[in-house]
Amino acid sequence: MPIFYSNESKEFHLQGKNVSYILNILRNSQLGHLYYGKKLRHRDSFNHLYREEYRDNSTNVFEGDQTFSLDTLKQEFPAYGTTDFREPVYQILQENGSRITNFEYQEHKIYKGKPSLEGLPATYVEDENEATTLEITLYDEVIDAELVLLYTVYEDLNVITRSAKFHNNGKEKLNLTRALSANVDFFDNDFEMVHLSGSWSRERHVKTRKLEQGIQSISSARGTSSAHQNPFIAVKRPDANEYQGEVYGFSLVYSGNFLAQVEVDHYDVTRVQMGINPFDFNWLLERGGTFQTPEAVMVYSDEGLNGMSQTYHKLYRTRLARGTWRDKPRPILTNNWEGTYFDFDEEKILSLAKDSKKLGIELFVLDDGWFGKRDDDTTSLGDWFVDTRKLPNGITGLANKIIELGLEFGLWFEPEMISKVSELYEKHPDWLIQVPNRRLSHGRNQFILDFSKKEVVDYIYEMMAKTLHDAPISYVKWDMNRYMTEIGSNQLPAERQSEVAHRYILGVYDLYERLTTEFPEILFESCASGGSRFDPGMLYYAPQAWTSDDTDAIERLKIQYGTSFVYPLSSIGAHVSAIPNHQVGRMTSLDTRGNVAYFGDFGYELDVTTMTEDEKEIVKAQVAFYKENRELIQKGTFYRMQSPFEGNVTSWMVVSDDQSEAFVGRYQVLGVPNPGHSRLLLAGLKEDYEYEVEGVEGTYYGDELMHAGIHLNPAFGDYTSQVFKLRKI
Ligand code: DGJ
Repeated sequence: MPIFYSNESKEFHLQGKNVSYILNILRNSQLGHLYYGKKLRHRDSFNHLYREEYRDNSTNVFEGDQTFSLDTLKQEFPAYGTTDFREPVYQILQENGSRITNFEYQEHKIYKGKPSLEGLPATYVEDENEATTLEITLYDEVIDAELVLLYTVYEDLNVITRSAKFHNNGKEKLNLTRALSANVDFFDNDFEMVHLSGSWSRERHVKTRKLEQGIQSISSARGTSSAHQNPFIAVKRPDANEYQGEVYGFSLVYSGNFLAQVEVDHYDVTRVQMGINPFDFNWLLERGGTFQTPEAVMVYSDEGLNGMSQTYHKLYRTRLARGTWRDKPRPILTNNWEGTYFDFDEEKILSLAKDSKKLGIELFVLDDGWFGKRDDDTTSLGDWFVDTRKLPNGITGLANKIIELGLEFGLWFEPEMISKVSELYEKHPDWLIQVPNRRLSHGRNQFILDFSKKEVVDYIYEMMAKTLHDAPISYVKWDMNRYMTEIGSNQLPAERQSEVAHRYILGVYDLYERLTTEFPEILFESCASGGSRFDPGMLYYAPQAWTSDDTDAIERLKIQYGTSFVYPLSSIGAHVSAIPNHQVGRMTSLDTRGNVAYFGDFGYELDVTTMTEDEKEIVKAQVAFYKENRELIQKGTFYRMQSPFEGNVTSWMVVSDDQSEAFVGRYQVLGVPNPGHSRLLLAGLKEDYEYEVEGVEGTYYGDELMHAGIHLNPAFGDYTSQVFKLRKI
């Protein structure tokens, strides 16, 4: 078992493949933290890592004892108010106004496997030998409440997952005003914080900042994890780069408001915390009530950022994503959105599908505009029945015709939304997220359904299930196009209004769970104005996501590079679109657009019928190429080599598990006058394998390709790109 407990030293030692995590029971029976980092050999006691010290200025727990202060000790699940002045990981407001708690160790269990979290997405195991779980129960006598901390260590990965569960056994009402999922007190502050930030159309740009004494944090209060901040941070050693050095990743399996925070204290201790955003949050725990926090996934790497990302990719691709589509090759699709927007009819859609088929494309996706009377974005959300003005033969008629052409058929929904101009709103004007007596703000002319109400989720489930039963649909794009405002629910009492944002997300998960269970053969792709909810929570239900509404190849370099910090290529929807690009007006070649989109779930998002014959030939070749290589791309090990955030050139590659094949992309944003000689250093190959590189003369050993590189002719012009396929001979 990779989890040890010693009754004498009162220490727990969690050992992953190359990682150790050590905690202990403190003198006051709370939990302390001793170590998180590279694997240590197990010993009976790590007590030498523990220090109680006299400090002139400290406040102390026990009278007559000047050495035991939570201010100077590293803690496992800290509370505020009893000698620790940093931000706590949880806080409970009691009926008498007190916020002081004292959760003491009571018991623990160590067992094989990993439990699921009720109502929440989480990583899982397929065989109980893959992971071991530690469950520590703490108890606060005064309020008669239990706190259960859950840790799972994966045997073959450097992963530790965490969550916490609060249970009120007592008589009084408890208010959880803060309930984060994880806390780590690091010994020092020699770290940089890395996060993925941006906005609509420029999601997940990589940001790196130096830590200073004080708090630095990222968060979302938008009702979704958001395009602005992704629920991920890493702290890395300043010398860590893509290939080497220590990195600690923290990723939250949650799709709503979150907080990821780093606090550096006066002794240079770095406290990392992650969980549901405590801002505008409160959860009422009545007698018998339980609150389960989402799961935080901690990854340790001493092989730099690539090492961290590769661990996340493996875990999230194989033990977070689920279902029939988890391991299946993802179909190459045409989506009509940028090709037609709302302006289409059956004839137009069939002509797009016909030409797509000729190009070798496998799936046709009908996007927004097929239902109610939706000619623009002002109406019909919630009316999930076909608009027969546009599609006289219904979705079933259209889908059958598309299937006859030899394509699969996919359909767009935005299940969580309602337009005021809709039959649904006429019937249920009270089904909106709203607060009384206040003006209701809109986003894209639409309002949010109150998914904290079961009857709303039931109703939407019935409507969607009917469409999905009636027509041969093999793919669903689930969109969500606005952030949450005036957050309230008319079915909940005043004291529960601050629960609405979280209850909403639980409702979304419930609908996903029901639909994916009822329709296991359907491939779900999540979307939220592009990548505004690209998070691990969504990946549990939908194994791929629309990465960004920005389809410009050059913008996509940054977006896909940043996204790959956490998310596997099999989750990254990437489409070739028309030029001038609809988001930035840029002109890039069809080759470059394809060469960028190859590194994800490939598809086209344009009017294929307007392409020239030459363009169609290029597309045919791209489609054929992707089909041949998608197993490698979607399941291989991904390496980032040159960052678009650092220079004019971006490069990355993906290597098959057996290292016999690889696929490399190199992109140069601007042409360079009178350039010097350039070379591209590859990664992840087997040193003594001999490879041929398509388009390059000769054969080369892995060591040459990684250390001497491919020598390149200067690229002429802006937005150029090259891809290389490598094969072991
Ligand atoms: C936003 C999505 O990101 C787009 O791909 C498209 O589906 C539109 N919504 C449709 O309204």
